[in-house]
Formats: sequence, C-alpha cells, structure tokens
Amino acid sequence: MSSSLPACSIPLFDTVASYRQWRRNAYDEKKSVGFVPTMGALHEGHLSLVRRSLAENDLTVLSIFVNPAQFAPHEDLATYPRTLPRDLALLEQLSVSVSGGTRTPSAVFVPTVHEMYPSGISQNTEEQKGTFVEVKGYGHQMEGRTRPTFFRGVATVVTKLFNAIEPTRAYFGQKDIQQALLLRRMTRDLLLSHPEPQDLIIVPTTRDPVTSLALSSRNAYLTAHERESVAPALYSALQAARVAWEGNASKAECIRRAEAIIEDKKREVNGSVDLRLDYIEMNDPDSFEVVSDAMSRQQWEGHVAGRPVILSGAMWVGKTRLIDNIILGAAHTLGIVE
Ligand code: PAF
Repeated sequence: MSSSLPACSIPLFDTVASYRQWRRNAYDEKKSVGFVPTMGALHEGHLSLVRRSLAENDLTVLSIFVNPAQFAPHEDLATYPRTLPRDLALLEQLSVSVSGGTRTPSAVFVPTVHEMYPSGISQNTEEQKGTFVEVKGYGHQMEGRTRPTFFRGVATVVTKLFNAIEPTRAYFGQKDIQQALLLRRMTRDLLLSHPEPQDLIIVPTTRDPVTSLALSSRNAYLTAHERESVAPALYSALQAARVAWEGNASKAECIRRAEAIIEDKKREVNGSVDLRLDYIEMNDPDSFEVVSDAMSRQQWEGHVAGRPVILSGAMWVGKTRLIDNIILGAAHTLGIVE
C-alpha cells in the first residue's frame, strides 16, 4: 500500500507487487476472488457488478484505471471523469448480506499509467512499443467501425489486469456487450485460467428507473435536459426495432423504425441539441457479422436455432457518444443472467 493514496477503509494497492502479497493470502485461505475492472466515475451500473461479485465470491477486488490505450488521440482521455475520493466513498458504503454474514469490497487496485505500461504508452498506435493484445477478426465490427483501436486497448489492459489480479470470476456490464463477448473469446484463445471463459460474467445493463437511459460514466457530460429528454431516444429507438423484429419485419425495416424515432427526436429538439445517430445495427453474437437486410426473426431462428441477435446503437448528443443494446432472443445463451 502507498501513502500517496487517499485514506480509505478498504485496502488500496497501487503496485502489482503490493497487490500480489494480498492475493497470496487469499490463495492460502482458499478464498475465491471476484473482480470488477472499471475506469472509475462509478455509478449504479458498476455497483450492480460489485454487488453481484460480493454475492458470488468470498472476496471482491475492483480496479480503477483510466486506460490511455483505449482512447484514440482525438477522444476524451483528458476530460474523462476522474472522481477517486467519491468512488471510494461509494464503495465504503456498499455491502451485501449472504448466509453467514455481510460482505464488503475487499481491495481496490489503483495503478499508475507507468505501472500498467512499463514500456510506456502512446495513444497513437503507430508510435506504440511493447506488447499489445489484439482479438483479430472481432474488433472491427459494431463499435470497432467507429473506434478501430478501441478493442486492442481494452484487450491489452484487461489481459494485464487479469494477470495482476488473478480473479476467480470477472464481471462486465452488458452495456458494452461487444467488449464482454470479445474478452470472453480472448480468455479462451489465450488459455487463461484467471478467469476461465465461463467465469467471465456478463451482468444486465442498469437503467435509469424513470427514463430507461443506460447508466454510463459519460452521462456525466450531459446537461439535465439532454440526459432526461434527449439521450433516452437511443433506447426508445432500439425498443422500436425490437417490436418490429418480434412482428417479423425484415432487419432493414426494423432499423428504419429505429431511425425514425431518432429523426422525431431531432425534429423535437429543433437544433437546440446536436443529435446525431452513429449507427443502429443487428449483429451475430458469435461472429459480430452484420445480419443481412432481408433477414426476419423467423428466418433467423430457422437459420441458427437458439442463437440470439445483438441489436445495438450509438448516438452523439453534442460531444458525448452514447451506446446501448438489447439482446433479441435467448440472452441466457450468451451467459447474461439477471
Ligand atoms: O468498461 C470499461 O470500463 C473499460 O473498458 C475496462 C473494461 C475497465 C477496461 O479499461
């Protein structure tokens, strides 16, 4: 533990070496370790991951690290919300009752950039030196179309975090569905044992109880009006596509219905908010390939029985880019369980 860290009743570690000493005790005591990786600016969505980990593991570790490698040079690394004292205060208040007692977060890993990238790190992939992890063939679709270097940065830092933390189970939110599925594939491809692929748990998206807006640290960039009346249009659009899909409309028609919702919202705000749809798409959860325009639900079910479809979208509200998704069909086959 380092004295430069804020005071906190939960043990904080800023070096891999100091964390490993703590981890050794957990091995000696045969305790399971749940892990929730985060970039901080914690909200109720993160806390739902932590509660799930507390319920399923003897010990729960979080990491808070804003990872430069997953931000392109033009993205919001410099302004990304950093709220460590508030994050720690939230974690100190968190507890879950299990048979035999109460569990609270056991440790927080808050490494420096140098600790995570001993060879240094540039946001420009051309300039990068050292070791990087790429899940080839799965990082260029969906989010990867707009953010081509994002998943390389995520896969790299999560590999490092898994190596450092050695979790029994790790918890990721459904809001970043491509991230979670790609990381599960990575654990399989790299033969990782901490966690095993089936122990990478995907937890359903937490939504604002009034507007259904998916909770995200980036919602902090929005004004109250944008958050309450404009941003929820993305989820409404996805819902419109879902209803059309259930009614057996073609994929192209489902997407048109979703786009119409965003167009209506644009008319309503009448230029007072810069609202731009990035994409709404349907993708195969195994390959991330785009579902063909003519495909309907019944055809899809005949084509790949039991496999769901990822319906996802991204939208700009001013300078803030928001993402969301719905699983059409059997979400439990992707290991997403309430
Ligand atoms: O989802 C996130 O917050 C980040 O992508 C993660 C998994 C913590 C890696 O930096």
